[in-house]
Amino acid sequence: MSITLLSSPLQGFTDFRFRNAQHRHFGGIDTFYAPYIRLNGKFEIKPNYQLDLALKNNTSLEVIPQVMTCKEDEFLFVAKYVQSLGYNELNWNLGCPYPMVANKGMGSGMINSPEKIDKVLDLVHSETDIVVSMKMRMGYEKSDEILRSFPVLAKYPLKNIAIHARIGAQLYKGGVDLDAFQRCVDETPHKLYYNGDITTVEGFRAMQERFPSIDHWMLGRGLIADPFLPMMIRKDTTEYPEDRIEVFSKFHDLLQYEFEQKLSGDKHVIRKMLSFWEYFAQSFSNPTRIVKKIKKTNTIEAFDQVVKEIFEEEMEMSY
Ligand SMILES: Cc1cc2nc3c(=O)[nH]c(=O)nc-3n(C[C@H](O)[C@H](O)[C@H](O)COP(=O)(O)O)c2cc1C
Repeated sequence: MSITLLSSPLQGFTDFRFRNAQHRHFGGIDTFYAPYIRLNGKFEIKPNYQLDLALKNNTSLEVIPQVMTCKEDEFLFVAKYVQSLGYNELNWNLGCPYPMVANKGMGSGMINSPEKIDKVLDLVHSETDIVVSMKMRMGYEKSDEILRSFPVLAKYPLKNIAIHARIGAQLYKGGVDLDAFQRCVDETPHKLYYNGDITTVEGFRAMQERFPSIDHWMLGRGLIADPFLPMMIRKDTTEYPEDRIEVFSKFHDLLQYEFEQKLSGDKHVIRKMLSFWEYFAQSFSNPTRIVKKIKKTNTIEAFDQVVKEIFEEEMEMSY
């Protein structure tokens, strides 16, 4: 069965800079989801979101925008905005777990309100021809909340429902609940995508065996930690290419260059790169030491030197 690999959105990470750099140096991802747009009560699109979705910044990629809201007028506004840019699909975030979001009835805090979901989907389907897809957790408190939303969702021609197999109250802790995901597979007529904790080729193979009907797989933190992962999944290999560190280093340089253009001051650039390294380090030999070393740097010069050493050490270890 042919598979489709999707890059799950991570606010603060998978913006157009990361997407383009990953696509250029590693490939393997069919479609990237952009991190959510949130309006916060004002009917205007913040410049950061505009930049992220501008077609000129996404020329060689397939990108799907995302919105996080519980209000039908906000959804409609964002739908019209992304359509005006040329996008024909809008993904709806019903997964964000953070209490300040969920307590306002947004993200995973909305899964338990099928009547509100209905209101939004009804308006957007009657007022626009945009294609809607969903990204959901299985509930906020309990993993069967999503099942109660399925009859409402079944009324609409949704492109798909991507399910992160956790509940909101877990945040990112604890494991994914695969039995609960299986219940979703059994109970919805919609096309389901699987999301959650795919971090290795072996782990992917196990998921594929467990869910033979799923052919769309979303990679989130696993893609940041190891941007080689989608290509290795496609090739069904656990072997990195021989020039692994050279390729990674070019990707890293491009990402750093992009953030140097965006951010002013060494500290801001280092802080941003450190947030990536907290993930990257997981696919290197000594994650804790790497993060510690980077944390100690205060200038770009020192940061560059530490990164050079990390790459050299990793190359030595792999020979
Ligand atoms: C820092 C961070 C930011 C995230 N931002 C978003 C987001 O903007 N939209 C969204 O739907 N999910 C977001 N997520 C959730 C991920 O897309 C994904 O569903 C989740 O991490 C589970 O997949 P994974 O185990 O492959 O990472 C975010 C997760 C993290 C850790």
